[in-house]
Amino acid sequence: MEFNLSKYIRPSLISLAPYQSARQEFEGDGRKMILLDANENPFESVVNRYPDPLQQQLKKEIALWKGVEEDQLYLSNGSDEFISQVIMGSCAPGKDQIMIFPPTFGMYKVAANLHGVGVQEVPLTVNFQLDIAAILGAINETTKVIFIPTPNNPTANNFDLNTIEQLLQNFSGLVVVDEAYVEFSSNPSVVSWLDKYPNLLVCQTFSKAQGMAGARLGMAFAHPEMIAFFNRIKAPYNINSLTINAALTRLKEQDKVGAQVAVLLSERKRLEDALATLPIVLHCYPSDANFVLIRVDDSLLRYQQLISEGIVVRNPSKNLNCENTLRISVGRPEENDRLIEALKKISYSV
Ligand SMILES: Cc1ncc(COP(=O)(O)O)c(C=O)c1O
Repeated sequence: MEFNLSKYIRPSLISLAPYQSARQEFEGDGRKMILLDANENPFESVVNRYPDPLQQQLKKEIALWKGVEEDQLYLSNGSDEFISQVIMGSCAPGKDQIMIFPPTFGMYKVAANLHGVGVQEVPLTVNFQLDIAAILGAINETTKVIFIPTPNNPTANNFDLNTIEQLLQNFSGLVVVDEAYVEFSSNPSVVSWLDKYPNLLVCQTFSKAQGMAGARLGMAFAHPEMIAFFNRIKAPYNINSLTINAALTRLKEQDKVGAQVAVLLSERKRLEDALATLPIVLHCYPSDANFVLIRVDDSLLRYQQLISEGIVVRNPSKNLNCENTLRISVGRPEENDRLIEALKKISYSV
């Protein structure tokens, strides 16, 4: 597959010389070395040494798990860091733009704003689907990166894979498919498309189904040259040792994760069924994620009433076409019981 890195990245970064740690320069020959190169405290604790800047052990395991080559994999401090790096690495401030499809995940715009990069917004259709004609019509020479979260946040639905493929074929910049909720989705991952589309980047996260939001670990999959570029522009030690170890352990617990996902999927169905019977719920949007979006009669009032009942949900009503909606994460069964109870109480009290 032909790949031309300079097509995708800021010209000023093409020849950037990255920070080098001395340990990276040294080629290990299997001996146990005395490490006096990094001004660490030499007395052993779990974290007295800097972590491996390239997380080689963890990448080996993740590559096996995901069926990719190690050089197609980049690890970030949560997907949030990756999103920021894609924008920083490919868009010139004050000149280039990203494209997003509201209502969408809020970090794309925040990261673009932080980097002085413009944002083109092409709304989803009223059914929260990608509007391919409008998207292709809006792309211009300033458009460098397109972000597609599927399943989408806050709307919870999947996007049609044929439409995403059409975009990959008709846009010469980078397409980031953000699969943060892929474990809950009925659509397969598009990681299998990597060999077909040099402009495809896929990101997934340990924050959702993998149950490690506090550890901050994101995975990105792309062409090896793109990955090598991310390794050059990243902070040297972006993934800490505690996170690396926690992820190595979690990879051995995929049966447990799978069982938790199964519970959350059946709880999602139970929640959807219960919500549909409530008079204050006007619509429950179909979900392919671990949360549901509902339209209610008065989102601010219902949000505050839930707070009074000791339950925090998200009120995304300020997002385009999300007036009077609430976004509710699927909790543990007993938490969902409490939520349903509270919503019934709110619904039927005058
Ligand atoms: C679509 C989407 N992408 C990325 C993220 C952030 O993931 P991380 O915790 O890995 O930064 C979220 C979090 O809500 C999300 O909804």
